[in-house]
Amino acid sequence: MYSFLKKEKIIIINNFLGGKEKMVIKPRLKGGLALTNHPIGAKEFVKRQIDYVKSQDKYEGPKKVLIIGSSSGYGLATRISLAFGAGAETIGVAFEKGIEGKRTGSAGWWNSIAFKEAVKKEGIFAKNFIGDAFSMEMKDEVIKFIKEEFGGKIDLLIYSLASAVRTDPIDGVTYRSALKSTTKDITGPTINFEKEIMEETTMGVATPEEIKSTIKVMGGEDWKLWIEALDKGGVLSEGFKTVAYSYLGPKVTYGIYKEGTIGAAKRDLEHTSDVLNDFLKQRYNGEAYVSLSKALMTKASAVIPIFPLYAALLYKVMKEKGIHEGTIQQKHRLLTKMVYGNEPVIDEERRLRPDNWEMREDVQAEVEALWDKVTPENFKEISDYAGAREEFMQLNGFDFDNVDYDADIDLDELAKLKP
Ligand code: NAI
Repeated sequence: MYSFLKKEKIIIINNFLGGKEKMVIKPRLKGGLALTNHPIGAKEFVKRQIDYVKSQDKYEGPKKVLIIGSSSGYGLATRISLAFGAGAETIGVAFEKGIEGKRTGSAGWWNSIAFKEAVKKEGIFAKNFIGDAFSMEMKDEVIKFIKEEFGGKIDLLIYSLASAVRTDPIDGVTYRSALKSTTKDITGPTINFEKEIMEETTMGVATPEEIKSTIKVMGGEDWKLWIEALDKGGVLSEGFKTVAYSYLGPKVTYGIYKEGTIGAAKRDLEHTSDVLNDFLKQRYNGEAYVSLSKALMTKASAVIPIFPLYAALLYKVMKEKGIHEGTIQQKHRLLTKMVYGNEPVIDEERRLRPDNWEMREDVQAEVEALWDKVTPENFKEISDYAGAREEFMQLNGFDFDNVDYDADIDLDELAKLKP
């Protein structure tokens, strides 16, 4: 096993390297942010998700899909499930950066390159647009591409954006989201992955302006603009579906999530799904849903105060019960059982609920009991700190046992690769 993996590693590196200026890429963290990413590790990150989907039965799904926020986290996992499980051709839109000077490029950049290489090998078409999904220019470019080079219509749009900033294409104003409470100051424990400690964080109260800005960035407005533009462009097929990703979370995270600015934005997204559902039903016999997903470590969630500690405790409980899912398992179940299957879990507010295992009463009771016991001294033992940290590192291409992190990486050669 090891020698096979080593051989593969050498092939990957040979493909990437040309023998010019080289560097060893080590992880550098700042709180919940990774400042470096490992391109070879990204390839492994994508490969493991593909391997999971290939180990499962194929399913009948959409054939032509547009994914907004396709390069990491839930959007990437969705794309992998659709391409390798249902043979779907996909267009991905993401905001990522390649190599600039000594900067190693963002994780999503390398994930997108790795995904495209992998589908190409299977003869499945994929196209990436790297840029601002919030702009009208991006919408126009994608619609032109659908019309001219993608068969003219799409059957599914996945909306999986997580962003801190949005320029409204109509009034030109730039809005910034604020991760804040809407009720009172919230102080609670979180994990600092950089220092590997549990520490207190305080989330201040948002001003009405900050609540409005967060809704502008993370609410449903841009999703609706996409659907309107696609409809106007005549590129939606009969029976077209769209799903946007949201989160609700349990009692222990209410202060920071459900009752926070981000919760306000997600409620707006949910309201938008009803508006879009009526519109699509009438025009295309189509559907729009919000899906409430399970809490997982992603680039976006790692920076939400309190959330990483909750995730580490949740992993502990769900793994012990044998019901833990990573991003790929969660999205594969959503697609195969719910969106394209006949076991949908839908609540009274018409939301798809693949978070149903996270929200089980027995799971939450155990998480709450751990929450009451957790201290800076015992958090590594009583939570699945190791699992949560590994997942966080792997998002950025680190901590894979079959990638050689001492190997030199040739940035000049890598810079020639494009998503
Ligand atoms: P992520 O940070 O891994 O992915 C965000 C994606 O959005 C990336 O592909 C990024 O390139 C793209 N993006 C950001 N700004 C963009 C822009 N201006 N133009 C084009 N693309 C842009 O985040 P994650 O966690 O996968 O989040 C995706 C969605 O899933 C969010 O709506 C989030 O609220 C939701 N969700 C996440 C959960 C979690 O625990 N991570 C739980 C439930 C829902």
